[in-house]
Amino acid sequence: MTTVTVRVPAKVNLQLAVGPVRDDGYHDLVNIFHAVSLFDEVTAEPAADGVFGVAVTGTGAEHVPDDQDNLAVRAAKELAKAPGAPSGVRLAIRKAIPVAGGMAGGSADAAAALVACDRLWGIGMSRDGLAEIAARVGSDVPFALLGGTAVGTGRGERLTPAVAAGPFHWVFALADGGLSTAAVYAECDRLRAAHEEVVAWPQVDEALMAALRSGDAVALGGRLTNDLQPAALALRPSLDRTLTAGREHGALGSLVSGSGPTCAFLAADAENADDLAVALRDAGVCREAVRAEGPVPGATLLG
Ligand code: C5P
Repeated sequence: MTTVTVRVPAKVNLQLAVGPVRDDGYHDLVNIFHAVSLFDEVTAEPAADGVFGVAVTGTGAEHVPDDQDNLAVRAAKELAKAPGAPSGVRLAIRKAIPVAGGMAGGSADAAAALVACDRLWGIGMSRDGLAEIAARVGSDVPFALLGGTAVGTGRGERLTPAVAAGPFHWVFALADGGLSTAAVYAECDRLRAAHEEVVAWPQVDEALMAALRSGDAVALGGRLTNDLQPAALALRPSLDRTLTAGREHGALGSLVSGSGPTCAFLAADAENADDLAVALRDAGVCREAVRAEGPVPGATLLG
């Protein structure tokens, strides 16, 4: 076998309920993940033992580390600890998921690297085994393996698949520059402390789950929530205009995606999504507006 290519989707959070900060610095979450049809591709090619190389191309590639800090390389190195695994790979990442955009692009690349290296090295690890390694690499990596729609608890790494009728039609307003996930969580803590907020234990929104099951986009649009949104807006006030423009142009719901700065808008159907993307571009409130559908499968071997 010479090369293995894996396609992996971005995610949007339909509900992101952030609980109290834990002793390890992470937050307990209820994180309803939804995989959408914006894909990165990761190709793995054999390399000599101990060689872990990476090259990144595509949108925003210049902002992705091309050394051992790359999340996909870290994932490959974790998998290489498996007994009997040959260790050495060259990874080629083709980016379409916005970098540092709150859509788990780095986590997606890590998940794709796990699937690609597992095949390249002939390990044949179970999906549960890969998910365990994924959780060590990052909180959102297990979901990128699984795809679809799922409820994440703990740091977001403990997943229960959810039934979602779909397809749901989304528009994503991409921003210039990214936001650091850690910085957004820290800002969330700071705002909560400043307002002396009592932080509740996160709970699944059952009305949102019902809307997902029945495929009711209007009901789903009304239930989208993200506890990180005030923090993302505090760090990037211009996102308020983006969210307002989406609502004014008929979005059924709008929110900052994860830690931002990408904004997500739910549309009634494909035609409405097209119109909304055009309106957002024309309003000049984003770098680019792209359409996507969800749910879609997680990291998938292409060959
Ligand atoms: O797990 P991951 O490395 O993707 O998380 C990035 C950062 O996001 C963490 O270092 C932490 O600051 C923050 N985070 C958090 N609580 C979570 C998940 C992430 O505080 N449940």
